[in-house]
Amino acid sequence: MDTEDGADSGSSSGGNMTTVSQHTFGDKFDKPAFTISIIENMKEEYGLFVWPCSVILAEYVWQQRLQFSGVSVLELGAGTCLPGLVAAKLGLDVTLTDDSNKLEVLDNMRRVCDLNQLNCKVLGLTWGVWDESIFTLKPKLILGADVLYDASAFDDLFATVTFLLQNSPGSVFITTYHNRSGHHLIEFLMLKWGLKCVKLIDVFSFMPPNKASGLSGNIQLAEIVLISE
Ligand SMILES: C[S@@+](CC[C@H](N)C(=O)[O-])C[C@H]1O[C@@H](n2cnc3c(N)ncnc32)[C@H](O)[C@@H]1O
Repeated sequence: MDTEDGADSGSSSGGNMTTVSQHTFGDKFDKPAFTISIIENMKEEYGLFVWPCSVILAEYVWQQRLQFSGVSVLELGAGTCLPGLVAAKLGLDVTLTDDSNKLEVLDNMRRVCDLNQLNCKVLGLTWGVWDESIFTLKPKLILGADVLYDASAFDDLFATVTFLLQNSPGSVFITTYHNRSGHHLIEFLMLKWGLKCVKLIDVFSFMPPNKASGLSGNIQLAEIVLISE
């Protein structure tokens, strides 16, 4: 199966469309600093596939690694969790989360961590649900790739993001999303939840050509913080 960054992929097994894709990171195209392997299953959940937004956010984490040095990281709706794994590879303390009900996705996250020999915490975290574990989380960097795709879930997502930002002063939420209908709904919800966008980046401005060539559509990256900060 092709992935958006032109990654290599392994073979399907047992007809269940499971593949392993390889994602490289580095300043020089021909000399990667490291590679992350991801187990994908294109027949199953959204969270078992590496979406383009994830490739972009992972690349951003790599390129901004000096800015993020030493911070604790939480990935929301992580799915195959490429951005979180890049953060872990950079030596950051990483918690990977996805919907508590998606046991197969959470299991796959643990398998992918093992495959890459990375020691991340894996946690069920459903947006808008206040399980005990969320109160102990104090990440400085909150990541979310392609988590703004279903407008009916935006309020729950922003409720969780706002709680995490309030629980960890000085933290930032960085998200990549397909801007299908303008930024208006997101702007409205940010205002409603007391959030502001401090950076809005056209992702083609920083993606290396070999990864950008597989991307299409209007994908943006936003850095979001509390208005009060
Ligand atoms: C489009 S996929 C993106 C996955 C991954 N971040 C990527 O970009 O490859 C959306 C992810 O959000 C998760 N998700 C959807 N609704 C959720 C909810 N209410 N709470 C937590 N996670 C949710 C899905 O399980 C899925 O992993």
